[in-house]
Amino acid sequence: MRKIVINGGRSLAGKVTVSGAKNSVVALIPAIILADGIVTLDGVPAISDVDSLIDIMETMGAKVRRTGDSLEIDPRGVKDMPMPFGKINSLRASYYFYGSLLGRYGQAIVGLPGGCDLGPRPIDLHIKAFEAMGASMTYEGSNMHLVANEKKMHGAHIFMDTVSVGATINTMFAAVKAKGRTVIENAAREPEIIDVATLLNNMGAHVRGAGTDVITIDGVEQLHGTRHQVIPDRIEAGTYIALAAAVGQGIQIDNVLYEHLESYIAKLEEMGVRMTISEDSIFVEKQDRLKAVSVKTSPYPGLATDLQQPLTPLLLMAEGSGRIIDTIYEKRVGHVAELARMGAHITTRSNYIAYTGPNKLTGAVVKATDLRGGAAMVIAGLMAEGQTEITNIEFILRGYSNIIEKLRELGADIQLMED
Ligand code: UD1
Repeated sequence: MRKIVINGGRSLAGKVTVSGAKNSVVALIPAIILADGIVTLDGVPAISDVDSLIDIMETMGAKVRRTGDSLEIDPRGVKDMPMPFGKINSLRASYYFYGSLLGRYGQAIVGLPGGCDLGPRPIDLHIKAFEAMGASMTYEGSNMHLVANEKKMHGAHIFMDTVSVGATINTMFAAVKAKGRTVIENAAREPEIIDVATLLNNMGAHVRGAGTDVITIDGVEQLHGTRHQVIPDRIEAGTYIALAAAVGQGIQIDNVLYEHLESYIAKLEEMGVRMTISEDSIFVEKQDRLKAVSVKTSPYPGLATDLQQPLTPLLLMAEGSGRIIDTIYEKRVGHVAELARMGAHITTRSNYIAYTGPNKLTGAVVKATDLRGGAAMVIAGLMAEGQTEITNIEFILRGYSNIIEKLRELGADIQLMED
């Protein structure tokens, strides 16, 4: 078992560069199955979710070449086969193979997706959309079997009951080569949706309206290869901004698109965090006093649920009391008990987190309960006096590219150790 050991209480300074977006790339890779040519992605983050997806693609017959942060995938040899359950189960985003296999072959046999435990994470909206487009679903052991009744998917008018990133992208995958027009209403508007639509359009698809809540897709016969730059990871950027505000003496974060983080930055400004925003970077100053605020997550452009946990340690430094309400994942509270072990005044109530500050954290043995909860523990460890050991770090490595190296570069005393 590996663990991260941090000697906290040091001030960090310098520059850190944000990698390509995890939540984009985990959709972009399965999207490549739909192409009849080589697709190259640039700006691919070095995270274990990417390793898992490459493994799955290779098992299915794709030829993959990775050079630095570029990933070249030739999907022409991909075979329509049951997906290997163990690998599928290792990440949530494996549900994107439902849409891309249905779009390419009119059928998909795939195990149920895994991912972080944030409470219930249903996929009913994905299935309802596939059914509206002419697919039937049955269970075969631990696999879901989806088949297009007329061999090919057809267009449909779909109204999403809930705003869902995964269901919106999966419906786009099933629709790009379907017969006729698909309209997705109440679509998710996250930047990753636009990134995926951009790749699909550059492959020859007709997707319009990505980034708004109505997306229209006109099916085409064939898609071709292309080259695509992955957008910067707004959640990684938001994590480093919180970290910089908590323990920085002046940290510049490069490769950030401010427009993707507006609600988050507004919340930090409300706390009193001082930042200078430039075209593609944000400089976070050393902070003095911060004011406690309440935080409520909501779908984009609201404050991202994925930033709620990385923001929590910074909130604990602020003076006063506040609440955190996660309207997307009410049970996304794994970090709370771990922060309390480090001496924080923080508790969970029925559907919110309550905190009072300012808190002085003390190093402890804690665990990463999930990916973003793990990021919260790293920030807390850097803030705390003494040594913090973080276990379950595989979660963190799923989504943060070269995190140890990036933090060392900023002057952190942090190590990855084998137990
Ligand atoms: C994606 C992100 C995840 C982020 C989440 C919300 C990826 C790989 N993961 O997850 O990091 O936390 O968006 O921004 O991009 N829901 C249903 N039925 C469904 C699908 C979703 O009820 O079929 C609900 C969920 O329980 C949740 C809400 O819709 O309450 C939003 O979930 P969704 O946007 O689908 O999350 P994911 O795509 O799984």
